[in-house]
Amino acid sequence: MGTPHILALCGSVRAGGFNKKLLDLAVAEARAQGAEVDVVDPQVLAQLPIYDQDVEVKGWPPLVKELRERLARANGLLIASPEYNSSIPGGLKNALDWVSRGPERLFPEKWAALMGASPGFFGTARMQPHLRQVLSSTGAHVLPSQVHLPRAAEAFNTDGSFKDEARRKEVAALVSSLVSKLKG
Ligand SMILES: Cc1cc2nc3c(=O)[nH]c(=O)nc-3n(C[C@H](O)[C@H](O)[C@H](O)COP(=O)(O)O)c2cc1C
Repeated sequence: MGTPHILALCGSVRAGGFNKKLLDLAVAEARAQGAEVDVVDPQVLAQLPIYDQDVEVKGWPPLVKELRERLARANGLLIASPEYNSSIPGGLKNALDWVSRGPERLFPEKWAALMGASPGFFGTARMQPHLRQVLSSTGAHVLPSQVHLPRAAEAFNTDGSFKDEARRKEVAALVSSLVSKLKG
């Protein structure tokens, strides 16, 4: 399949959130493993309109069109997302709804790796099965392995690295699984 080209998405739009930190470390690891990674600015998710079929039939809104083009260029997805009320944050779900539409069918043949960080003990364990279900319904392949980062407030050093080497290895292993799938 050639060079792995990954689109990286964060389910939290807040600056300096735990999931953006987690995503940044995974992105650095993916680049170190030879992947091209396109990181979507979390604010893009905040600025997308709510999915509306009346709008869709008139043509993709510019931000949606751009996100679709970026997804079309990728063969893999790396997502780090918080859990909101035991499920997927609305902004991320809205973005996935927009890019799932249209005759082009952008998801089939793409592989996705899921991660999530939370300040509590479950590390997004209730959100990830929902995200897995949504992505599977678009036709994406979701890696069976995943990363849960509980107690995220204690997980990072001030330079953004993991305090615990085992966490770094866990993320590196997930990224390695994704990159190998994309290399085919
Ligand atoms: C609307 C809302 C609902 C939340 N629901 C959950 C939840 O169900 N489970 C959980 O572990 N944390 C929940 N949280 C707390 C988030 O895990 C926490 O705010 C986390 O820091 C968000 O991720 P971020 O740091 O990447 O922004 C919720 C937060 C918000 C704002």
